Amino acid sequence: MTGKATVVAPSNIALIKYWGTLDIDKMLPYNTSLSMTLSCCTTTTTVEVLDESDLDQVLVRTEAGELEVAGDRFASGVSAQLDRLRRWAGSGSGFRVGTMNSFPMGAGLASSASGFAALTLAVVAALGREVSQAEASILARYSGSGSAARSVMGGYVEWPGREDGSATELVRAEHWDLRDVVAILDERVKEVSSREGHRRALTSPYFEHRLRLLPERLNRVRQAILDRDFGALAPVVEEEALDLHLIAMSSRPPIFYWQPGTLRVLELIRGMRADGVEVCATMDAGANVHAICTADAEEAVVGALESVPEVQSVILDRVGEGPESSDEHLL
Ligand code: DP6
Repeated sequence: MTGKATVVAPSNIALIKYWGTLDIDKMLPYNTSLSMTLSCCTTTTTVEVLDESDLDQVLVRTEAGELEVAGDRFASGVSAQLDRLRRWAGSGSGFRVGTMNSFPMGAGLASSASGFAALTLAVVAALGREVSQAEASILARYSGSGSAARSVMGGYVEWPGREDGSATELVRAEHWDLRDVVAILDERVKEVSSREGHRRALTSPYFEHRLRLLPERLNRVRQAILDRDFGALAPVVEEEALDLHLIAMSSRPPIFYWQPGTLRVLELIRGMRADGVEVCATMDAGANVHAICTADAEEAVVGALESVPEVQSVILDRVGEGPESSDEHLL
């Protein structure tokens, strides 16, 4: 069988974080997470089905627009997911994969969420198969990037903890036009992967305590989104982001994702909110800060973040509608 498909899948930013893996084989998280699907930070992936005897080929489109053979680590992560999808589809075909990101990879911007969501959906489409959003979420999750389970959907997305379930859309993007102004402080690939962070999280003395706090925290975030109540959303989103890093820093051995600039940006955002600007901060497993804000606050937030010397660049993103297929193939 030969087929080709291209999918553009977005990254997402978690407001309630997945941190700690309960079952690594089944890819079950300890806790429910809730994220906002983004719009501009995307991965575009083209998948071409090859013959059964053909080996997988993984190519990455460079900024200059050329396709290069992917590095070993990246290619083996892709191939491992291709193997899972082959088993699911009962297919023995090889695949040619071409992929590109609209944003820096591995810098705490969940490039694996968009990457594995795009890869999974493109393989399914190239094989001529159809899946529900729920099935796509489960298939994407098996990549090992749990956050990919949320990137196959749009708007505000919840992924249940402790069960072999799929993510679900809480509300669509049009419900609340929140913005995500990302302050890039460090574009390098992080030293400790999320996978290792999930494993080490259990060694933190605060891990169990956070799990006890989460049900109420999740309810507050969910309700604030349903009510479009930024005043209710902001403190709980910051509290949750700080807890993730508290657990990382108190894991054994500890993980420090922050840079000095991270603290400076956090302080700036708290100051702006005290002055009445609708903005709050969250961070994934990286140094960069996501300033979540309302559309009215966006301009002021961008200006303020750009004035911080440690901020290398600012990415403007917003809530988005989820993955799309495209005719602009990379291969
Ligand atoms: C801190 O295992 O999904 O971003 O594969 O690196 O994207 P990546 O990580 P994953 O863990 C995500 C950890 C997090 C919080 C979150 O997105 O829920």
